[in-house]
Amino acid sequence: MDATPSLENSALLTAIILAAGQGTRMKSGRAKVLHELCGRPLVAFAIAQARAVGATRIVVVVGHQADEVRVRAGALFPSGVEFALQEEQLGTGHAVRIARDAAGLGEGEVLVLSGDVPLVRPQTLATLVRARRESGAAIALVTSDLDEPTGYGRVLKDESGRVLRVVEHRDANASERAVHGVNMGLYAFDAKFLGSALDALKPDNAQGELYLTDLIGLANANGREVVATKAPYAETRGINDRAELAEAEASLRREINLALMKSGVTMRDPSSTYVELGVEVADDVEIEPQVSLRGKTRIATGARIGQGAVIVDSTIGEGAEVKPYSHLDGAVVGARSLVGPFSRLRPGTELAEEVHVGNFVETKKARIGAKSKANHLTYLGDAVIGQGCNIGAGTITCNYDGAKKYETRMGDGVFIGSDTQLVAPVALGDNAYVGAGSTITKDVPADALAFTRPPLTVKEGWVARRKAKLAESAVGESKPKKAGGT
Ligand code: UD1
Ligand code: CA
Repeated sequence: MDATPSLENSALLTAIILAAGQGTRMKSGRAKVLHELCGRPLVAFAIAQARAVGATRIVVVVGHQADEVRVRAGALFPSGVEFALQEEQLGTGHAVRIARDAAGLGEGEVLVLSGDVPLVRPQTLATLVRARRESGAAIALVTSDLDEPTGYGRVLKDESGRVLRVVEHRDANASERAVHGVNMGLYAFDAKFLGSALDALKPDNAQGELYLTDLIGLANANGREVVATKAPYAETRGINDRAELAEAEASLRREINLALMKSGVTMRDPSSTYVELGVEVADDVEIEPQVSLRGKTRIATGARIGQGAVIVDSTIGEGAEVKPYSHLDGAVVGARSLVGPFSRLRPGTELAEEVHVGNFVETKKARIGAKSKANHLTYLGDAVIGQGCNIGAGTITCNYDGAKKYETRMGDGVFIGSDTQLVAPVALGDNAYVGAGSTITKDVPADALAFTRPPLTVKEGWVARRKAKLAESAVGESKPKKAGGT
């Protein structure tokens, strides 16, 4: 097999991706192709496969939740993907007709892929296309031998092994059902043959649909050859229900983790490490068990990710450490910074280098300068904080008045005593110093001390006096009541 899957001459390779069906067996309000594997919708896998094999045009047939499918696919592939609308899903053959009528098939070859077969390797598709080219066959199809072929179309052959036709499970008789060679729903067609043969399809089958698979029998009837290539089930399997979705995801996850480990990432327990497609992890990163890395997350070299951390759309700098059970979403963590355990960094958080954000600290739209620290129980929202600041335990930026959000600004070297409320909008100059327990409602200039503190009252001996008083009244209550008159 070729290391580079892309075909030599793909000038006229049109890919049609069938993605209009609802996916009844998913039992879902969402179209099947919008369900995700490792963070990416199923439809995106087929588009990526078509790209990888060098398709020059890609036509996605949409129907069920067509708009959502278009939007999701369009966001991931902003150009080079066309859509054809199949309003009523009258079968796989009908879907290809719709694509033909909307986009044309060209003169060359047509690759038909299923929106619900996500794990196919580009090499497998390149082999398929080559097999058809080299044989001059009308159709090449990918087959697999299954111990449990229920549900799949059976590939019927003659004694010499020539492919005759495909019969769907529902239409098959007992002896046909005993065949273990099945159709995986991936085809290469001679475009001219496909273009005209589609019109000959008839819905005379158990489902009353136009079956694309009937073209195999039709090719034979027209004296055209059909060739089959073989590929492993693990790779070519379709996703029909959520159990299959979970199995496919587990296998993709293993693959992603394996590739990361081979590239120099330590995973203490790869079986419980969830890394979505598109996440970048550099070498010498260490990942503890039960970590989720999602979306557009990037982790730079030497970073450590603690157990149970969930990191979404975030960037973790070189040598930074995210300690266990922290949740980061849309955050940037600078080099050698320390986050957590139990920190929550929300969108717009930007930590410069060597920042410390500790347990039960929540940040949102907060830019925190180098070497500043907020180590305990703090909320920093809509805040710009300079370098080398120390934010005491229990500090809260009061950024919301019930209607609008306001900003808190601090220069460098600011010290905020514990249990302080900073009522925004408010600004503190360089080296400003706030006494513990203060409510800061006005700007504090550089180098100033600010505090609000009710006077402290100390009453010496008060506890002892109170105890004695309480004891006395208890004795009074337990005295027997005087009986009347003796
Ligand atoms: C199909 C094949 C079957 C093969 C199996 C492999 C046919 C008739 N049968 O069966 O031989 O073993 O795939 O996975 O082709 N779709 C549309 N429009 C439609 C109908 C389907 O776009 O009108 C799309 C679906 O969304 C799906 C794909 O085509 O992505 C396959 O359809 P599905 O109903 O899952 O076909 P199978 O019954 O699995
Ligand atoms: Ca299917």
